[in-house]
Amino acid sequence: RGVIITIDGVAASGKSTVASGVARALGVPYVSSGLLYRAVTLHGLESGLPGGDLRVLERLQAQPPRLEPHAEGNRVHLAGRDLTDDLHATRVDEGVSAYAALPEVRAWVDEQLRALPAPFVAEGRDMGTNVFPQAQAKFYLTASPRVRAERRSAERPEDLDAIEAALVERDTRDAAQSLPAADALVIDTGELSAQEVIDLIVAQVRE
Ligand code: CDP
Repeated sequence: RGVIITIDGVAASGKSTVASGVARALGVPYVSSGLLYRAVTLHGLESGLPGGDLRVLERLQAQPPRLEPHAEGNRVHLAGRDLTDDLHATRVDEGVSAYAALPEVRAWVDEQLRALPAPFVAEGRDMGTNVFPQAQAKFYLTASPRVRAERRSAERPEDLDAIEAALVERDTRDAAQSLPAADALVIDTGELSAQEVIDLIVAQVRE
Protein backbone atom coordinates (compact mmCIF):
# COMPACT_ATOMS: atom_id res chain seq x y z
CA ARG A 1 0.00 0.00 0.00
CA GLY A 2 1.02 3.65 -0.12
CA VAL A 3 3.14 3.68 3.00
CA ILE A 4 5.79 6.43 3.28
CA ILE A 5 8.52 6.45 5.93
CA THR A 6 10.72 9.54 6.32
CA ILE A 7 14.32 9.64 7.52
CA ASP A 8 15.68 13.16 7.89
CA GLY A 9 18.83 14.45 9.54
CA VAL A 10 21.92 16.64 9.45
CA ALA A 11 24.74 16.26 6.90
CA ALA A 12 26.52 12.88 6.96
CA SER A 13 24.33 11.52 9.76
CA GLY A 14 24.06 8.21 7.89
CA LYS A 15 20.69 8.89 6.26
CA SER A 16 21.32 7.14 2.92
CA THR A 17 22.95 4.05 4.43
CA VAL A 18 20.14 3.73 6.95
CA ALA A 19 17.40 4.52 4.42
CA SER A 20 18.80 1.89 2.06
CA GLY A 21 18.95 -0.72 4.85
CA VAL A 22 15.41 0.02 6.05
CA ALA A 23 14.12 -0.05 2.48
CA ARG A 24 15.75 -3.42 1.80
CA ALA A 25 14.37 -4.87 5.05
CA LEU A 26 10.87 -3.72 4.09
CA GLY A 27 11.19 -4.64 0.40
CA VAL A 28 10.51 -1.12 -0.88
CA PRO A 29 12.71 1.50 -2.66
CA TYR A 30 14.22 4.50 -0.92
CA VAL A 31 14.28 8.01 -2.32
CA SER A 32 17.25 10.35 -1.81
CA SER A 33 16.07 13.96 -2.01
CA GLY A 34 19.64 15.19 -1.47
CA LEU A 35 20.70 13.59 -4.77
CA LEU A 36 18.16 15.77 -6.61
CA TYR A 37 19.53 18.92 -4.92
CA ARG A 38 23.01 17.74 -5.86
CA ALA A 39 21.92 17.16 -9.48
CA VAL A 40 20.47 20.69 -9.67
CA THR A 41 23.79 21.99 -8.36
CA LEU A 42 25.90 20.05 -10.86
CA HIS A 43 23.59 21.24 -13.63
CA GLY A 44 24.16 24.84 -12.51
CA LEU A 45 27.93 24.42 -12.18
CA GLU A 46 28.24 22.77 -15.60
CA SER A 47 26.10 25.52 -17.15
CA GLY A 48 28.62 28.06 -15.86
CA LEU A 49 26.09 29.74 -13.56
CA PRO A 50 27.25 31.45 -10.36
CA GLY A 51 26.25 29.60 -7.14
CA GLY A 52 22.54 29.65 -6.40
CA ASP A 53 21.59 31.34 -9.70
CA LEU A 54 17.85 31.14 -10.37
CA ARG A 55 18.50 30.68 -14.09
CA VAL A 56 19.13 27.02 -13.21
CA LEU A 57 15.32 26.67 -13.41
CA GLU A 58 15.38 27.14 -17.17
CA ARG A 59 17.96 24.34 -17.40
CA LEU A 60 15.78 22.12 -15.25
CA GLN A 61 12.78 22.69 -17.51
CA ALA A 62 14.83 22.07 -20.68
CA GLN A 63 16.76 19.04 -19.33
CA PRO A 64 15.26 17.68 -16.13
CA PRO A 65 17.42 15.29 -14.05
CA ARG A 66 15.51 12.07 -13.33
CA LEU A 67 15.82 10.25 -10.01
CA GLU A 68 15.73 6.44 -10.13
CA PRO A 69 14.89 5.09 -6.68
CA HIS A 70 16.06 1.56 -5.81
CA ALA A 71 16.53 -0.10 -2.43
CA GLU A 72 20.24 -0.69 -3.16
CA GLY A 73 21.08 2.88 -4.16
CA ASN A 74 19.60 5.79 -6.10
CA ARG A 75 20.83 6.98 -9.48
CA VAL A 76 20.26 10.24 -11.30
CA HIS A 77 20.17 10.55 -15.09
CA LEU A 78 20.34 13.72 -17.16
CA ALA A 79 19.80 13.61 -20.92
CA GLY A 80 21.01 10.02 -21.19
CA ARG A 81 24.01 10.53 -18.90
CA ASP A 82 24.31 8.91 -15.45
CA LEU A 83 25.35 11.78 -13.14
CA THR A 84 25.42 9.77 -9.93
CA ASP A 85 29.16 9.31 -9.54
CA ASP A 86 29.77 13.07 -9.95
CA LEU A 87 27.24 14.17 -7.32
CA HIS A 88 29.48 13.79 -4.26
CA ALA A 89 32.36 15.91 -5.56
CA THR A 90 33.60 18.58 -3.14
CA ARG A 91 32.43 21.38 -5.44
CA VAL A 92 28.90 19.99 -5.27
CA ASP A 93 29.10 19.71 -1.45
CA GLU A 94 30.15 23.36 -1.38
CA GLY A 95 27.62 24.67 -3.87
CA VAL A 96 24.48 22.73 -2.97
CA SER A 97 23.15 24.82 -0.05
CA ALA A 98 22.89 27.97 -2.18
CA TYR A 99 20.66 26.16 -4.69
CA ALA A 100 18.69 24.39 -1.92
CA ALA A 101 17.91 27.80 -0.39
CA LEU A 102 15.93 28.89 -3.49
CA PRO A 103 12.16 28.35 -2.98
CA GLU A 104 11.72 27.71 -6.72
CA VAL A 105 14.33 24.94 -6.66
CA ARG A 106 12.72 23.42 -3.56
CA ALA A 107 9.32 23.47 -5.27
CA TRP A 108 10.80 21.70 -8.30
CA VAL A 109 12.41 18.98 -6.14
CA ASP A 110 9.21 18.54 -4.07
CA GLU A 111 7.22 18.05 -7.26
CA GLN A 112 9.59 15.28 -8.47
CA LEU A 113 9.35 13.53 -5.10
CA ARG A 114 5.58 13.73 -4.78
CA ALA A 115 5.19 12.22 -8.25
CA LEU A 116 6.89 8.97 -7.15
CA PRO A 117 4.67 5.96 -6.45
CA ALA A 118 4.54 4.90 -2.76
CA PRO A 119 5.48 2.76 -0.85
CA PHE A 120 9.01 4.09 -0.24
CA VAL A 121 11.42 5.41 2.37
CA ALA A 122 12.19 9.12 1.76
CA GLU A 123 15.47 10.55 3.03
CA GLY A 124 16.65 14.18 3.37
CA ARG A 125 16.08 17.27 5.53
CA ASP A 126 12.40 18.16 5.21
CA MET A 127 10.75 14.89 4.15
CA GLY A 128 8.73 14.60 7.38
CA THR A 129 7.96 18.31 7.73
CA ASN A 130 7.28 19.78 4.28
CA VAL A 131 7.18 17.11 1.61
CA PHE A 132 5.41 14.13 3.24
CA PRO A 133 3.78 15.46 6.45
CA GLN A 134 1.28 12.58 6.16
CA ALA A 135 4.06 9.92 6.44
CA GLN A 136 3.24 6.87 8.59
CA ALA A 137 6.53 6.95 10.52
CA LYS A 138 9.18 9.66 10.83
CA PHE A 139 12.78 9.51 12.03
CA TYR A 140 15.50 12.15 12.47
CA LEU A 141 19.19 11.20 12.69
CA THR A 142 21.86 13.20 14.50
CA ALA A 143 25.49 12.67 15.60
CA SER A 144 28.30 14.95 16.73
CA PRO A 145 30.24 16.79 13.98
CA ARG A 146 33.38 14.76 14.80
CA VAL A 147 31.64 11.40 14.42
CA ARG A 148 30.05 12.51 11.16
CA ALA A 149 33.37 13.79 9.80
CA GLU A 150 35.04 10.48 10.69
CA ARG A 151 32.37 8.55 8.80
CA ARG A 152 32.62 10.80 5.75
CA SER A 153 36.43 10.85 5.66
CA ALA A 154 36.35 7.46 3.92
CA GLU A 155 34.46 9.10 1.01
CA ARG A 156 36.28 12.45 0.68
CA PRO A 157 39.90 13.38 -0.11
CA GLU A 158 40.19 16.24 2.46
CA ASP A 159 41.57 15.81 6.01
CA LEU A 160 39.31 15.28 9.02
CA ASP A 161 39.34 18.88 10.28
CA ALA A 162 38.46 20.26 6.85
CA ILE A 163 35.64 17.73 6.44
CA GLU A 164 34.24 18.56 9.90
CA ALA A 165 34.39 22.33 9.24
CA ALA A 166 32.60 21.89 5.91
CA LEU A 167 29.85 19.75 7.51
CA VAL A 168 29.23 22.31 10.26
CA GLU A 169 29.15 25.11 7.67
CA ARG A 170 26.64 23.18 5.55
CA ASP A 171 24.43 22.46 8.62
CA THR A 172 24.30 26.21 9.26
CA ARG A 173 23.38 27.00 5.65
CA ASP A 174 20.73 24.24 5.63
CA ALA A 175 19.28 25.11 9.06
CA ALA A 176 16.06 26.63 7.67
CA GLN A 177 14.89 23.32 6.18
CA SER A 178 16.47 20.96 8.72
CA LEU A 179 14.19 21.05 11.79
CA PRO A 180 12.93 17.65 12.97
CA ALA A 181 9.19 17.06 12.56
CA ALA A 182 7.32 17.35 15.86
CA ASP A 183 6.23 13.71 15.48
CA ALA A 184 9.67 12.34 14.45
CA LEU A 185 11.67 9.96 16.62
CA VAL A 186 15.12 11.58 17.02
CA ILE A 187 17.98 9.05 17.04
CA ASP A 188 21.53 9.98 18.06
CA THR A 189 23.57 7.58 15.93
CA GLY A 190 26.91 8.45 17.59
CA GLU A 191 27.15 5.23 19.60
CA LEU A 192 25.25 3.03 17.14
CA SER A 193 26.33 1.10 14.07
CA ALA A 194 24.37 1.61 10.86
CA GLN A 195 22.84 -1.86 11.32
CA GLU A 196 21.69 -0.99 14.86
CA VAL A 197 19.95 2.16 13.59
CA ILE A 198 18.33 0.15 10.76
CA ASP A 199 17.10 -2.54 13.21
CA LEU A 200 15.71 0.10 15.58
CA ILE A 201 13.76 1.83 12.80
CA VAL A 202 12.46 -1.42 11.28
CA ALA A 203 11.27 -2.55 14.75
CA GLN A 204 9.43 0.76 15.24
CA VAL A 205 7.83 0.57 11.81
CA ARG A 206 6.65 -3.02 12.31
CA GLU A 207 5.11 -2.23 15.71
O1 CDP B 1 24.41 13.18 2.71
P1 CDP B 1 24.55 14.63 3.01
O2 CDP B 1 23.82 15.01 4.25
O3 CDP B 1 25.93 15.14 2.93
O4 CDP B 1 23.84 15.43 1.84
P2 CDP B 1 22.50 15.18 1.07
O5 CDP B 1 21.46 14.54 1.92
O6 CDP B 1 22.88 14.53 -0.20
O7 CDP B 1 22.01 16.68 0.80
C1 CDP B 1 22.81 17.56 0.08
C2 CDP B 1 22.28 18.96 0.25
O8 CDP B 1 20.99 19.05 -0.35
C3 CDP B 1 22.09 19.46 1.67
O9 CDP B 1 23.27 20.01 2.20
C4 CDP B 1 20.99 20.51 1.50
O10 CDP B 1 21.53 21.75 1.06
C5 CDP B 1 20.16 19.94 0.38
N1 CDP B 1 18.96 19.22 0.83
C6 CDP B 1 17.85 19.96 1.22
O11 CDP B 1 17.92 21.18 1.28
N2 CDP B 1 16.68 19.33 1.53
C7 CDP B 1 16.59 17.99 1.47
N3 CDP B 1 15.44 17.40 1.75
C8 CDP B 1 17.72 17.22 1.12
C9 CDP B 1 18.89 17.86 0.81
